[in-house]
Amino acid sequence: MLAYAAHLANPVMYMEEIVVPRLTRHRVPAALPVADIVEDASKGLIKSPRSMPPKYFYDERGSQLFDAICETREYYPTRTEEALLRSCAHDVITQLRPDHIVEFGSGTARKTRHLFDACDRAGETAAYWPFDVCEEMLHDSGQKLVQEYDWLQVNTLVGDYLGGLTGLPPREGRCLYLFLGGTIGNFTEDEAATFLDEVRAIMRPGDGLLLGADRVKDSEVLHAAYNDDSGITAQFNLNLLHVLNRELDADFCDSNFEHRALFNTEASRIEMYLVSRRRQSVRIKALEHTLELEAGEKILTEISRKFTPANLESLLNDAGLAVQRHFEPDNGWFSLVLAEVEGAPVTQS
Ligand SMILES: C[S@@+](CC[C@H](N)C(=O)[O-])C[C@H]1O[C@@H](n2cnc3c(N)ncnc32)[C@H](O)[C@@H]1O
Repeated sequence: MLAYAAHLANPVMYMEEIVVPRLTRHRVPAALPVADIVEDASKGLIKSPRSMPPKYFYDERGSQLFDAICETREYYPTRTEEALLRSCAHDVITQLRPDHIVEFGSGTARKTRHLFDACDRAGETAAYWPFDVCEEMLHDSGQKLVQEYDWLQVNTLVGDYLGGLTGLPPREGRCLYLFLGGTIGNFTEDEAATFLDEVRAIMRPGDGLLLGADRVKDSEVLHAAYNDDSGITAQFNLNLLHVLNRELDADFCDSNFEHRALFNTEASRIEMYLVSRRRQSVRIKALEHTLELEAGEKILTEISRKFTPANLESLLNDAGLAVQRHFEPDNGWFSLVLAEVEGAPVTQS
């Protein structure tokens, strides 16, 4: 079933498409200039040091591979954050009583279900707004969620959150914003600050932000998490080459590259690279350019910054947000922080 409604209340006109009952799709217009893959590739690939932004990992296959990473023995962040969510969900829901749950980079929303279960138990209902670049993943997870929860309204938001948040459809009532999975670590310091400023700008008194961030820890644990024995993270990383081939009419050959992830202790971040196995030329038709790569030359494909409680707190404070609760496991491997607008406590009624 397809129906369209233009919402005139929003200064940025947006379209709501009803997919099935209780499931709608919205495209979020970018309010800030945001580069497309052609611009990013010409900025990032042509000159050394070479890099591509991590958002291009997440086509349909990349999103499925990320989900498979979450199941690996070595990838502790998902399990750790899920356990934290399971134990704090009731408190968060009954304290905030959100009318809306808006999740940035929602993926499969596997962990978010603990919040919906807590709503169920507390007799609360909320509309869910998952925001992601991967339209297929949003559609699949939305379909599953409306089947699993017979009260849940799911409004998928297709777009790039780097394009700003002022284009989100209007929502009446209290909002709980989620940014989980340690995805904040994929931003540089400046990008994280800009993104949290954007989040703060759409938050009203009584709203909350639940932020999941990975913590600094033993580099062996970190190294293993990004170099799983079954090679799924390697496949995820190499999938970027398939995306570039498809989107830019390029001829990258994945067997000519290897996955490398290492912990840069000084910068406190995992750096993930695709490393050229040999001297090679790669034609990128959309850029009208041929890349000449030496053996061992690297393309940076992702950073994943690791935080301490103190630098997380100052990151939030700098954006005008205050830490209200900090949930962490005994081993301190992950932080789940509930933040509120400074001077405007998360509601308790
Ligand atoms: C590391 S995964 C985390 C997924 C999920 N939140 C979790 O905790 O398992 C990052 C998610 O953010 C999405 N994403 C990455 N960059 C994005 C962007 N610029 N705009 C919107 N979504 C983005 C990806 O498609 C993916 O679903």
